[in-house]
Amino acid sequence: MTAKYGPWGIIAGGSDGVGAAFAHEMAARGLNVVLVARRVPVLEAFAEEIRARHGVEVRTVALDLSVPGTVASLADATSDLEIGLFVYNAGGDDTSTLFLDKDLDTHLKLIHRNCDSVLEAAYRFGGPMVARRRGGLVLVTSGAAWAGGATLATYGATKAFDLLFAEALWAEWHTSGVDVLALVLGRTDTPSMRRVFDAKGEPYGDAADPADVAKQALDHLTDGPTWIFGSQNPTGGSPFGATSRRDAVLVMSRGSSTSSASTGS
Ligand SMILES: NC(=O)c1ccc[n+]([C@@H]2O[C@H](COP(=O)([O-])OP(=O)(O)OC[C@H]3O[C@@H](n4cnc5c(N)ncnc54)[C@H](OP(=O)(O)O)[C@@H]3O)[C@@H](O)[C@H]2O)c1
Repeated sequence: MTAKYGPWGIIAGGSDGVGAAFAHEMAARGLNVVLVARRVPVLEAFAEEIRARHGVEVRTVALDLSVPGTVASLADATSDLEIGLFVYNAGGDDTSTLFLDKDLDTHLKLIHRNCDSVLEAAYRFGGPMVARRRGGLVLVTSGAAWAGGATLATYGATKAFDLLFAEALWAEWHTSGVDVLALVLGRTDTPSMRRVFDAKGEPYGDAADPADVAKQALDHLTDGPTWIFGSQNPTGGSPFGATSRRDAVLVMSRGSSTSSASTGS
């Protein structure tokens, strides 16, 4: 792990949920980690936990990835480190409402965090990996990327961007020694997911364990471009197969009206 993806990894959105699980798993495999998130007390407490449990170096960078210029600040804050693995995890939408019921600024911030900053991170951190001919990039996406659905308009569109963007980078980089993985998740038990279900007063139902997600993703870094966690055919195509686009959208819309925007499963 450290020979191919070390000595440092970054987890954007690395203080709880899936990102925290990635931090544990990467540190357990010997990587030092940079953790990025907004809430400083949560971030610092989690960094201490990783140091104490795994004995690796941990750097925290408190930033809001929905704000322009943030990824440049992250690059500055880590310019003295060799980053061999970048996991772009932050991306959930914990409000599940109709498009016009959300204010425009919220939509634009979601796009900035889930698309612009993802692209900028790939450019700023992927470039040096390609030059070194080793490294890895994981973009966490969602089943919401498979088709449009009511209450999922902006979220699903950003996740489709992440899916196709990762697949395209895999096509360009896999012969350069840099592994790229679009990690497609369904419902996963995280604080973000719980906020959505609690707000609706709905039970969580079956949800994946973030620790299993992180382990599996790191075990399959070389099996890109796409890994669908929980699927019988994790490297396969859309579960909608040959279903008409209209039927797929209707199914997604039924799911999202009774379930979570961020689960997208
Ligand atoms: N959970 C699910 O059911 C599910 C289903 C399908 C796909 N996914 C995908 O899995 C990924 C992780 O989801 P998750 O449920 O763990 O929740 P998440 O809200 O995407 O991630 C939480 C982490 O990201 C940080 N974060 C959130 N917004 C940020 C921002 N603007 N700037 C910097 N850090 C930010 C959080 O810390 P702060 O709040 O302190 O910033 C926390 O560390 C997402 O990409 C999501 O689309 C999740």
